Amino acid sequence: MSEQVGVVGLGLLGRGIAECFLKHGFDVVAVDRSEERRAQVPGATSDFAQLAGCTFVVESVTEDMGTKDEALAAIESVVSATTVIASNTSAIPISALQQRRAHPTRFVGMHWAEPAQITRFMELICGEQTSPETLATAETMARRLGKDPCVVRKDIPGFIVNRIGYAMYREALHLLDTGVADAETIDRAVRNALGLWATVCGPFRWMDITGGPAAYARGMKPVLPTLCNATVPSPTMRRERFHECSEEEAKRWEELYQRHAQRVTEMQREYFGEP
Ligand SMILES: NC(=O)c1ccc[n+]([C@@H]2O[C@H](COP(=O)([O-])OP(=O)(O)OC[C@H]3O[C@@H](n4cnc5c(N)ncnc54)[C@H](O)[C@@H]3O)[C@@H](O)[C@H]2O)c1
Repeated sequence: MSEQVGVVGLGLLGRGIAECFLKHGFDVVAVDRSEERRAQVPGATSDFAQLAGCTFVVESVTEDMGTKDEALAAIESVVSATTVIASNTSAIPISALQQRRAHPTRFVGMHWAEPAQITRFMELICGEQTSPETLATAETMARRLGKDPCVVRKDIPGFIVNRIGYAMYREALHLLDTGVADAETIDRAVRNALGLWATVCGPFRWMDITGGPAAYARGMKPVLPTLCNATVPSPTMRRERFHECSEEEAKRWEELYQRHAQRVTEMQREYFGEP
Protein backbone atom coordinates (compact mmCIF):
# COMPACT_ATOMS: atom_id res chain seq x y z
CA MET A 1 0.00 0.00 0.00
CA SER A 2 1.29 3.50 -0.76
CA GLU A 3 2.31 5.88 2.00
CA GLN A 4 -0.57 7.98 3.28
CA VAL A 5 -0.23 11.76 3.60
CA GLY A 6 -2.73 14.49 4.45
CA VAL A 7 -3.52 17.89 2.95
CA VAL A 8 -5.75 20.17 5.03
CA GLY A 9 -7.21 23.20 3.24
CA LEU A 10 -8.10 22.76 -0.44
CA GLY A 11 -7.83 26.32 -1.70
CA LEU A 12 -5.68 27.43 -4.61
CA LEU A 13 -2.52 26.07 -2.98
CA GLY A 14 -3.94 23.02 -1.21
CA ARG A 15 -5.44 21.60 -4.42
CA GLY A 16 -2.04 21.84 -6.15
CA ILE A 17 -0.31 20.29 -3.12
CA ALA A 18 -2.74 17.35 -3.14
CA GLU A 19 -2.15 16.91 -6.89
CA CYS A 20 1.61 16.98 -6.36
CA PHE A 21 1.45 14.20 -3.74
CA LEU A 22 -0.84 12.11 -5.97
CA LYS A 23 1.47 12.61 -8.95
CA HIS A 24 4.32 11.19 -6.88
CA GLY A 25 2.48 8.05 -5.84
CA PHE A 26 1.19 8.96 -2.38
CA ASP A 27 -2.21 8.05 -1.04
CA VAL A 28 -3.76 11.44 -0.16
CA VAL A 29 -6.35 12.26 2.50
CA ALA A 30 -7.68 15.70 1.46
CA VAL A 31 -9.62 17.67 4.10
CA ASP A 32 -11.56 20.93 3.88
CA ARG A 33 -14.45 22.31 5.91
CA SER A 34 -16.04 23.91 2.84
CA GLU A 35 -18.39 21.73 0.83
CA GLU A 36 -17.77 23.85 -2.26
CA ARG A 37 -14.00 23.27 -2.01
CA ARG A 38 -14.42 19.55 -1.33
CA ALA A 39 -16.50 19.25 -4.49
CA GLN A 40 -13.42 20.28 -6.50
CA VAL A 41 -11.23 17.44 -5.19
CA PRO A 42 -12.30 13.80 -5.74
CA GLY A 43 -12.59 11.89 -2.46
CA ALA A 44 -12.14 14.93 -0.21
CA THR A 45 -13.60 14.82 3.28
CA SER A 46 -14.51 17.13 6.17
CA ASP A 47 -13.62 14.41 8.68
CA PHE A 48 -10.22 15.02 10.31
CA ALA A 49 -10.29 11.47 11.78
CA GLN A 50 -9.44 10.18 8.27
CA LEU A 51 -5.95 11.64 8.77
CA ALA A 52 -5.18 9.10 11.52
CA GLY A 53 -2.91 6.90 9.36
CA CYS A 54 -0.92 9.75 7.74
CA THR A 55 2.86 9.94 8.20
CA PHE A 56 3.03 13.54 6.94
CA VAL A 57 0.35 16.26 6.92
CA VAL A 58 0.50 19.63 5.15
CA GLU A 59 -1.75 22.36 6.56
CA SER A 60 -2.76 24.90 3.90
CA VAL A 61 -5.81 26.64 5.37
CA THR A 62 -6.61 30.37 5.24
CA GLU A 63 -3.73 32.67 6.24
CA ASP A 64 -5.01 33.65 9.65
CA MET A 65 -3.48 32.72 13.01
CA GLY A 66 -6.76 31.65 14.65
CA THR A 67 -7.86 29.57 11.64
CA LYS A 68 -4.47 27.86 11.43
CA ASP A 69 -4.45 27.12 15.17
CA GLU A 70 -7.89 25.55 14.96
CA ALA A 71 -6.95 23.35 11.98
CA LEU A 72 -3.59 22.36 13.51
CA ALA A 73 -5.25 21.38 16.80
CA ALA A 74 -7.75 19.24 14.86
CA ILE A 75 -4.89 17.52 12.98
CA GLU A 76 -2.93 16.90 16.18
CA SER A 77 -5.92 15.35 17.87
CA VAL A 78 -6.01 12.47 15.36
CA VAL A 79 -2.48 11.76 14.05
CA SER A 80 0.28 9.87 15.86
CA ALA A 81 2.95 11.74 17.84
CA THR A 82 5.56 10.97 15.17
CA THR A 83 3.60 12.35 12.19
CA VAL A 84 5.33 15.43 10.78
CA ILE A 85 2.98 18.43 10.48
CA ALA A 86 4.05 21.11 7.99
CA SER A 87 2.41 24.51 7.61
CA ASN A 88 2.23 26.26 4.24
CA THR A 89 1.95 29.69 5.88
CA SER A 90 3.35 32.56 3.78
CA ALA A 91 4.15 34.89 6.65
CA ILE A 92 3.00 33.69 10.10
CA PRO A 93 6.07 32.91 12.24
CA ILE A 94 6.52 29.14 12.62
CA SER A 95 7.70 29.60 16.23
CA ALA A 96 4.42 31.36 17.08
CA LEU A 97 2.27 28.55 15.61
CA GLN A 98 4.56 26.04 17.31
CA GLN A 99 4.01 27.46 20.81
CA ARG A 100 0.52 25.98 21.01
CA ARG A 101 1.39 22.56 19.58
CA ALA A 102 1.18 19.39 21.67
CA HIS A 103 4.41 18.06 20.07
CA PRO A 104 6.20 21.20 18.83
CA THR A 105 9.37 19.43 17.69
CA ARG A 106 7.56 17.67 14.79
CA PHE A 107 6.21 20.96 13.44
CA VAL A 108 7.91 22.74 10.49
CA GLY A 109 7.18 25.44 7.90
CA MET A 110 6.83 24.21 4.30
CA HIS A 111 6.24 27.09 1.92
CA TRP A 112 5.04 26.05 -1.55
CA ALA A 113 4.65 28.18 -4.68
CA GLU A 114 1.85 28.30 -7.23
CA PRO A 115 1.25 26.07 -9.24
CA ALA A 116 2.25 23.72 -6.43
CA GLN A 117 2.06 20.57 -8.59
CA ILE A 118 4.67 21.99 -11.00
CA THR A 119 7.15 24.39 -9.35
CA ARG A 120 10.49 23.26 -7.92
CA PHE A 121 10.36 25.95 -5.26
CA MET A 122 10.02 25.02 -1.60
CA GLU A 123 11.16 26.88 1.50
CA LEU A 124 11.54 24.84 4.70
CA ILE A 125 11.42 26.92 7.87
CA CYS A 126 12.46 25.74 11.31
CA GLY A 127 10.71 27.25 14.31
CA GLU A 128 12.60 27.54 17.59
CA GLN A 129 11.50 24.04 18.60
CA THR A 130 11.63 22.14 15.26
CA SER A 131 13.89 19.09 15.66
CA PRO A 132 16.71 18.28 13.20
CA GLU A 133 14.91 14.97 12.50
CA THR A 134 11.74 16.81 11.48
CA LEU A 135 13.70 19.08 9.15
CA ALA A 136 15.46 16.04 7.65
CA THR A 137 12.11 14.29 7.07
CA ALA A 138 10.72 17.43 5.42
CA GLU A 139 13.78 17.73 3.17
CA THR A 140 13.50 14.09 2.11
CA MET A 141 9.79 14.58 1.43
CA ALA A 142 10.49 17.70 -0.63
CA ARG A 143 12.92 15.79 -2.87
CA ARG A 144 10.51 12.88 -3.24
CA LEU A 145 8.06 15.46 -4.61
CA GLY A 146 10.56 16.81 -7.14
CA LYS A 147 11.13 20.03 -5.16
CA ASP A 148 14.44 21.80 -4.70
CA PRO A 149 14.18 22.63 -0.98
CA CYS A 150 15.71 25.82 0.46
CA VAL A 151 16.22 25.80 4.22
CA VAL A 152 15.49 29.13 5.91
CA ARG A 153 17.81 29.19 8.93
CA LYS A 154 15.95 31.92 10.85
CA ASP A 155 12.21 32.16 11.34
CA ILE A 156 12.01 35.63 9.81
CA PRO A 157 8.75 37.23 8.46
CA GLY A 158 8.33 36.59 4.73
CA PHE A 159 11.16 34.00 4.72
CA ILE A 160 13.42 34.44 1.63
CA VAL A 161 11.38 35.00 -1.51
CA ASN A 162 8.53 37.05 -0.11
CA ARG A 163 11.03 39.44 1.52
CA ILE A 164 12.88 39.90 -1.77
CA GLY A 165 9.61 40.14 -3.68
CA TYR A 166 8.11 42.71 -1.28
CA ALA A 167 11.23 44.89 -1.57
CA MET A 168 10.82 44.79 -5.35
CA TYR A 169 7.06 45.48 -5.29
CA ARG A 170 7.63 48.45 -2.95
CA GLU A 171 10.13 49.96 -5.36
CA ALA A 172 7.85 49.25 -8.34
CA LEU A 173 5.03 51.11 -6.55
CA HIS A 174 7.39 53.98 -5.80
CA LEU A 175 8.32 54.28 -9.50
CA LEU A 176 4.63 54.23 -10.41
CA ASP A 177 3.59 56.71 -7.69
CA THR A 178 6.33 59.18 -8.61
CA GLY A 179 5.47 59.07 -12.32
CA VAL A 180 8.72 57.50 -13.51
CA ALA A 181 6.78 55.02 -15.65
CA ASP A 182 3.34 53.44 -15.87
CA ALA A 183 2.51 49.92 -14.65
CA GLU A 184 2.66 48.40 -18.14
CA THR A 185 6.12 49.84 -18.77
CA ILE A 186 7.46 48.70 -15.39
CA ASP A 187 6.05 45.21 -15.96
CA ARG A 188 7.70 44.99 -19.39
CA ALA A 189 11.06 46.21 -18.11
CA VAL A 190 11.04 43.71 -15.25
CA ARG A 191 10.00 40.71 -17.32
CA ASN A 192 12.56 41.43 -20.05
CA ALA A 193 15.47 41.92 -17.63
CA LEU A 194 14.96 40.39 -14.17
CA GLY A 195 12.49 37.88 -15.61
CA LEU A 196 15.12 36.59 -17.98
CA TRP A 197 17.98 35.96 -15.56
CA ALA A 198 15.97 35.14 -12.44
CA THR A 199 14.82 31.78 -13.85
CA VAL A 200 18.40 30.57 -14.20
CA CYS A 201 20.58 32.64 -11.81
CA GLY A 202 19.85 33.99 -8.34
CA PRO A 203 20.95 37.54 -7.50
CA PHE A 204 24.43 36.42 -6.40
CA ARG A 205 25.18 34.28 -9.47
CA TRP A 206 23.90 37.14 -11.63
CA MET A 207 26.20 39.69 -9.97
CA ASP A 208 29.13 37.27 -10.31
CA ILE A 209 28.69 36.77 -14.05
CA THR A 210 28.00 40.40 -14.89
CA GLY A 211 30.80 42.34 -13.22
CA GLY A 212 31.17 40.98 -9.70
CA PRO A 213 30.38 42.38 -6.24
CA ALA A 214 32.76 45.38 -6.40
CA ALA A 215 31.29 46.65 -9.67
CA TYR A 216 27.78 46.24 -8.29
CA ALA A 217 28.74 48.07 -5.09
CA ARG A 218 29.96 51.04 -7.18
CA GLY A 219 26.74 51.04 -9.20
CA MET A 220 24.50 50.69 -6.15
CA LYS A 221 26.15 53.31 -3.92
CA PRO A 222 24.56 56.45 -5.46
CA VAL A 223 21.21 54.70 -6.06
CA LEU A 224 20.61 53.15 -2.61
CA PRO A 225 19.82 56.46 -0.82
CA THR A 226 17.18 57.20 -3.47
CA LEU A 227 15.36 53.85 -3.16
CA CYS A 228 12.00 53.70 -1.41
CA ASN A 229 12.18 52.76 2.27
CA ALA A 230 8.47 53.16 3.12
CA THR A 231 7.30 51.10 6.10
CA VAL A 232 3.63 50.98 5.04
CA PRO A 233 2.14 49.84 1.71
CA SER A 234 1.55 52.58 -0.87
CA PRO A 235 -2.07 53.91 -0.94
CA THR A 236 -2.04 52.89 -4.63
CA MET A 237 -2.38 49.30 -3.39
CA ARG A 238 -5.96 50.02 -2.27
CA ARG A 239 -7.13 49.58 -5.85
CA GLU A 240 -8.39 46.18 -6.92
CA ARG A 241 -6.08 45.70 -9.90
CA PHE A 242 -3.22 47.54 -11.57
CA HIS A 243 -4.31 46.63 -15.11
CA GLU A 244 -7.85 47.03 -16.38
CA CYS A 245 -8.76 43.68 -17.91
CA SER A 246 -11.79 41.54 -18.64
CA GLU A 247 -12.37 38.22 -16.88
CA GLU A 248 -11.43 36.48 -20.12
CA GLU A 249 -8.13 38.34 -20.32
CA ALA A 250 -7.37 37.61 -16.66
CA LYS A 251 -7.98 33.91 -17.39
CA ARG A 252 -5.59 34.08 -20.36
CA TRP A 253 -2.86 35.55 -18.14
CA GLU A 254 -3.42 32.79 -15.61
CA GLU A 255 -3.15 30.12 -18.33
CA LEU A 256 -0.06 31.76 -19.79
CA TYR A 257 1.58 31.68 -16.35
CA GLN A 258 0.74 27.98 -15.88
CA ARG A 259 2.24 27.13 -19.28
CA HIS A 260 5.31 29.22 -18.56
CA ALA A 261 5.80 27.61 -15.12
CA GLN A 262 5.72 24.19 -16.78
CA ARG A 263 8.29 25.20 -19.43
CA VAL A 264 10.66 26.93 -17.04
CA THR A 265 10.53 23.98 -14.64
CA GLU A 266 11.42 21.61 -17.49
CA MET A 267 14.28 23.89 -18.49
CA GLN A 268 15.56 24.05 -14.90
CA ARG A 269 15.41 20.25 -14.72
CA GLU A 270 17.46 20.07 -17.92
CA TYR A 271 20.09 22.55 -16.60
CA PHE A 272 20.30 21.48 -12.97
CA GLY A 273 18.97 17.89 -12.96
CA GLU A 274 16.55 16.38 -10.50
CA PRO A 275 16.77 17.98 -7.03
N1 LIG B 1 -2.03 31.95 -2.79
C1 LIG B 1 -0.72 31.81 -2.93
O1 LIG B 1 -0.12 32.13 -3.97
C2 LIG B 1 0.09 31.19 -1.80
C3 LIG B 1 1.44 30.85 -2.02
C4 LIG B 1 2.15 30.20 -0.98
C5 LIG B 1 1.51 29.93 0.23
N2 LIG B 1 0.20 30.31 0.43
C6 LIG B 1 -0.40 30.01 1.72
O2 LIG B 1 -1.19 28.82 1.58
C7 LIG B 1 -2.28 28.86 2.50
C8 LIG B 1 -3.59 28.68 1.73
O3 LIG B 1 -3.67 29.69 0.75
P1 LIG B 1 -4.78 29.65 -0.42
O4 LIG B 1 -4.45 30.79 -1.33
O5 LIG B 1 -4.86 28.27 -0.96
O6 LIG B 1 -6.08 30.00 0.47
P2 LIG B 1 -7.63 29.81 0.14
O7 LIG B 1 -8.34 30.83 0.93
O8 LIG B 1 -7.84 29.70 -1.34
O9 LIG B 1 -7.95 28.35 0.77
C9 LIG B 1 -7.98 28.07 2.13
C10 LIG B 1 -8.86 26.83 2.35
O10 LIG B 1 -8.79 26.45 3.72
C11 LIG B 1 -10.06 25.97 4.11
N3 LIG B 1 -10.16 26.03 5.58
C12 LIG B 1 -10.13 27.12 6.36
N4 LIG B 1 -10.20 26.76 7.65
C13 LIG B 1 -10.25 25.41 7.69
C14 LIG B 1 -10.32 24.45 8.73
N5 LIG B 1 -10.33 24.80 10.02
N6 LIG B 1 -10.35 23.15 8.41
C15 LIG B 1 -10.34 22.76 7.11
N7 LIG B 1 -10.26 23.62 6.07
C16 LIG B 1 -10.23 24.93 6.35
C17 LIG B 1 -11.05 26.88 3.39
O11 LIG B 1 -12.33 26.31 3.28
C18 LIG B 1 -10.34 27.06 2.04
O12 LIG B 1 -10.76 26.08 1.10
C19 LIG B 1 -2.18 30.21 3.22
O13 LIG B 1 -1.50 30.04 4.44
C20 LIG B 1 -1.36 31.06 2.25
O14 LIG B 1 -0.67 32.11 2.89
C21 LIG B 1 -0.52 30.90 -0.57
